[in-house]
Amino acid sequence: MTGIVVLGSTNMDLVTYVEKAPQRGETVTGREFRTIPGGKGANQAIAAARAGGDVLMIGAVGNDAYGTHLRSTLEHSGVDTDDLRTVEGPSGTAHIVVDDEGGNAIVVIPGANGTLDHLSPGDEGVIADADTLLLQLEIPLAAVLAGALAARRHDVRTILTPSPARPLPDELLAAIDLLVPNEHEATTLTGRTDPREAATALLDRVPEVVVTLGASGSLYVTRGAEPLTVPAPKVTAIDSTGAGDTFVGALAVALGEGRPMPDALAWAAAAAALSVQREGATIAMPYRPEIEERYAK
Ligand code: RIB
Repeated sequence: MTGIVVLGSTNMDLVTYVEKAPQRGETVTGREFRTIPGGKGANQAIAAARAGGDVLMIGAVGNDAYGTHLRSTLEHSGVDTDDLRTVEGPSGTAHIVVDDEGGNAIVVIPGANGTLDHLSPGDEGVIADADTLLLQLEIPLAAVLAGALAARRHDVRTILTPSPARPLPDELLAAIDLLVPNEHEATTLTGRTDPREAATALLDRVPEVVVTLGASGSLYVTRGAEPLTVPAPKVTAIDSTGAGDTFVGALAVALGEGRPMPDALAWAAAAAALSVQREGATIAMPYRPEIEERYAK
C-alpha cells in the first residue's frame, strides 16, 4: 500500500535571483541563475517523501533532458515514479524571479503537464491503494477532478492545494476533504480578503480548510469548531518558492500518521520554515530528522 499518491505537475524551475523584480518595461541585472527541479506536484511528492511518507507520483515529463532530471530527482528522494509518464515534447518549465526579500513571481509553461487531461488505466487502482491523494491545479482540471472522484469512490483522503488560483467547480470541491489555499487563493475562491472570513465561507463547500499565512503560520477551520491559528517558527526567509508545497507534503505525512491537526500543522510549519531558509523548491526541502529537530525547538 502507498500512503500518499500525488497527482500533479513536474516543472524545471528556471530561477533568477535579483535584488528587486523588474517592473513592466524595465531591465535589471540579476545576481544568479539556477535550474532547479520543481512543479507543485513534484514538490509535494518530494516534501512528503523526505518527511517520511511512502509516496507515489502520477504525472508527466517530456522526453527532454529536463524530463530525465526531474524523474531522477523524484527517485533520489524516494518517490515511486512507476506512474510518471514520459511524453513527446518539452517538460513543464517555471520561470521564477526571486527578490532579496525572498518573495517570488512565477510564470509556468505547462509542457508535458498539459497532456495530463485524464486518468490512465491503472491510475484509479493506484489511488485506491493510498491513504491520501494530494492534488494541485497545474495539470488540466479534468484530471484533477477525475483523481478526486476516484479517491472519493475508494474512501481515500483528498487534500487540494488550489494553486495556481482560479475559481473551482462545486463538483470538485465536493470531493475534497481538506483544502489548503494561501491567502490569495482563498480570496480568489470566495471574494473575501480576510483569511478568517474566506476560510469560514469555504466551509460551505469543503469540510476542512487550512489557509497558509506565510510567516504568520496557518489558520485551520472546520465545521462546528472555533478557528485555530497555528504560528510558524520565526526565521529569515531567503526564498519562499515551494514553501507551501513543503507545508502540504509534511502535513499529509503527519495526518497520515494520525497526529491531531494542531500538532500536524505545527510540524508542517517547521518543515516549511526550514525550506524558506534555503534557495529553490525541491533542493530546499528538509528531511525528517531536521523537521523533528526544528519542531522540538
Ligand atoms: O509552488 C512552487 C512551484 O510553482 C515551483 O516549483 C514552480 O514549478 C511552480 O510550479
